[in-house]
Amino acid sequence: MKFLIVLALIGAAAATPLTADQAALVQGAWSKVKTSEVEILAAVFSAYPDIQAKFPKFAGKELSAIKGSADFALHATRIVSFISEVISLAGNSATAPAIETLVTELANNHKNRGVTKDQFNEFRTALTNYVSSNAPWGDNVASAWNQALDNVYATIFSKL
Ligand code: HEM
Repeated sequence: MKFLIVLALIGAAAATPLTADQAALVQGAWSKVKTSEVEILAAVFSAYPDIQAKFPKFAGKELSAIKGSADFALHATRIVSFISEVISLAGNSATAPAIETLVTELANNHKNRGVTKDQFNEFRTALTNYVSSNAPWGDNVASAWNQALDNVYATIFSKL
């Protein structure tokens, strides 16, 4: 039991909230891509068809056939809006609990859908590739971006 408590404390200490400056770097990069909802989801599905296969509306269909549909735009907008909301709340200790609430809800919804840690990691890779190729990107942006995702993923993985 003591061992589990120690592990829990280490886990809690591992999350390093973004400073306001780091959050500004992430917000700056994200602002360059956040209106490319359809392209972002298409990049995720193209790199990882197993993610596409989890969606009843998209499973088994050619990406080129669904990419222009209203359903695709709707789902792309849901995902990208979620990320925009979390990023807008970053870098401020007063809004950290709101991030935790949103991300916990996302993790629980997706656990119920059978989404795996591997798939979340795939999503992270595809998203990071997209942003780093379409926004000004340097070591400082990469470091802040990775820290943000490490924090969010620690919460998600504790619920999956
Ligand atoms: C990693 C693999 C993922 C899979 C396989 C997956 C799958 C799904 C599925 C099947 C739905 C329901 C779609 C529908 O109602 O027609 C959904 C909804 C949703 N997903 Fe994901 N998802 C993944 C990752 C993510 C990530 C990383 C985010 C956010 C950054 C996200 C955000 C959402 C949102 C906002 C919704 C709608 C609200 C909800 O029902 O939870 N998803 N997802």
